[in-house]
Amino acid sequence: MLLGVNIDHVATLRNARGGKEPDTILAADICEQNGATSITTHLREDRRHIKDEDVRTLIKTLKTNLNLEMAVTEEMGRIALEIKPHSVCLVPEKRQEITTEGGLDVSGQLEKITNFVKPLKDAGIIVSLFIDPNEEQVKASAKTGAQFIEMHTGQYSEAYGTEKEEEEFQKLKKSAQLAQSLGLKVNAGHGLNYDNVHRMHEIQGLYELNIGHSIISRAIFTGLAAAVREMADLTK
Ligand code: PXP
Repeated sequence: MLLGVNIDHVATLRNARGGKEPDTILAADICEQNGATSITTHLREDRRHIKDEDVRTLIKTLKTNLNLEMAVTEEMGRIALEIKPHSVCLVPEKRQEITTEGGLDVSGQLEKITNFVKPLKDAGIIVSLFIDPNEEQVKASAKTGAQFIEMHTGQYSEAYGTEKEEEEFQKLKKSAQLAQSLGLKVNAGHGLNYDNVHRMHEIQGLYELNIGHSIISRAIFTGLAAAVREMADLTK
């Protein structure tokens, strides 16, 4: 399995002060040097974390692939066609949500999504649809022309370690099998962390995981000791 690292929360921290630190470009570079096979960012309508300039610089500086998460809107379609990331992942987006809640309703807007996918694919951009792991959404996704789905692992992650874990895990496993039988490649992500990620190995043929929050959170604790030591030396 490949690992796409979502660096949105590096930008969340930067924006808290409005300056340049921590630098998203340097963060992406460190991710790439340490095993990330792609860098994922979600350019939200409200630009609450990643901003247009981040994306425009990343596309020039990345050594791996840029995977741009975006809503199915005219503005985002235009930006993707202009920037030409390696791949886009189409996600639902609500202004008030803290993070992406639930998958894209592909079956409920089949025509709209199919029409949105075509020009992106024609431009050579790989298209992935972020969907809940269920039969209806997988079957609809296969009709849109998108090459990938990304299964929403949020429910599995929440259920991990409870009596609901197996049920949620089986939804992922069955959906992946169905998608692959329909010719789709399968990614997964959302809520995956250092405890629950191991079960993704039980899903045959899973291509890439997209993980952000747990990695950035872990980085605080793997880096805090050294950061304090360095400052303590400077203030002695
Ligand atoms: N995949 C998609 C489509 C997402 O929207 C997100 C969250 O931005 C992720 C993966 C990563 O989720 P997390 O930050 O919980 O690892």
